[in-house]
Amino acid sequence: MTTDRRNFLLAVARVSAATGTMALGIPGARAQKSDDRIRKIKVLAFDSYGSLFDVKSLDSACEQAYPGAGKELSTLWRAKQLQYSQMRSQMNRYRDFWLLTDDALVHATNSLRLPLSADTRRQLTASYLTLPLYPDVKPAMEALKKQGVRLVLLSNGTAKMLEAVARNSGIDGLIEQLISVDEVKVFKPDPRVYQLAVDKLKTGTDELGFVSSHSWDVNGAASFGLPTFWVPRQAQDAPDELGYQATRTLKSMAELAPLLLRG
Ligand code: LAC
Repeated sequence: MTTDRRNFLLAVARVSAATGTMALGIPGARAQKSDDRIRKIKVLAFDSYGSLFDVKSLDSACEQAYPGAGKELSTLWRAKQLQYSQMRSQMNRYRDFWLLTDDALVHATNSLRLPLSADTRRQLTASYLTLPLYPDVKPAMEALKKQGVRLVLLSNGTAKMLEAVARNSGIDGLIEQLISVDEVKVFKPDPRVYQLAVDKLKTGTDELGFVSSHSWDVNGAASFGLPTFWVPRQAQDAPDELGYQATRTLKSMAELAPLLLRG
C-alpha cells in the first residue's frame, strides 16, 4: 500500500470513529444506512440505572455509612447487582431487582468486612428510589417529547422501583410507560426483554430505538434487532466486543432530539 493511501485510510478511520460510524470499510454508505434506521424511529426505550439515573451518586451515600470505604463499596455493590442479574438469568432463577440489589449489598459489605445494620441496609437500598438524573436527561426528554417521540423506560428494575425513581426525579410526566423485566421474569440482555417492549408498545422493531449507557445492553438490543444509541457515562468506557455495536454512539442524550429530527 502506498503511504498516501495508508494515510487516507487512517484519516477516514479517524473521522468515522469520531462521528460514531464504523471505523473500517465504507463509512459513507454505513452512515447512510444508520440514518435510514434512525429515520424510522417513533419510540425510544431508555435503560434506567446508570443511563438516566446516576448510580455513581451512591458513592456518597456509601461514604456516609462507611467513611473511607464508600467508593469501593458502591462500585462492588453495583458490579455484583449486575452480575447477579445475569447469573440468575442463566440459572433460570429469577428474583426481582429490588431483592437482588439488597442481596448484592449484603455480599459487598461481607466481602469488604463492613458491618451492615438493618437500618443501614434499608437506607442504602432505598437510595435506589431517589437517584438523581444525569443533567442531560430531562432537557433531552422534553425536546424529544416536543417532537412527538414516544418515551418509555425498559429496565431491570421492578415497576415499583421505576415508578418511585421516575416520580422523585420529575420525569414521570414525560414517560409513557415504565416497562419492567419483572413481566417476563428474566433480565437484560435476554432477547425476551426487548421483545416485551415491542409487544407492549405494539411497534415494529424498526420503530423502536433503544438508549443505554451499558454497551452490553446495547449489544443485547442490537442483537435482538433494534436500532440503538450508546451514551457512555464514564470516560474510560470502551464498547463491549460482543459483535453488535450501537447504531450511533453519542456524547450526551442532548444529541438524540436533533438526530431524530434530522433523521
Ligand atoms: C437497568 C439496569 C441495567 O436499569 O441498570 O435495566
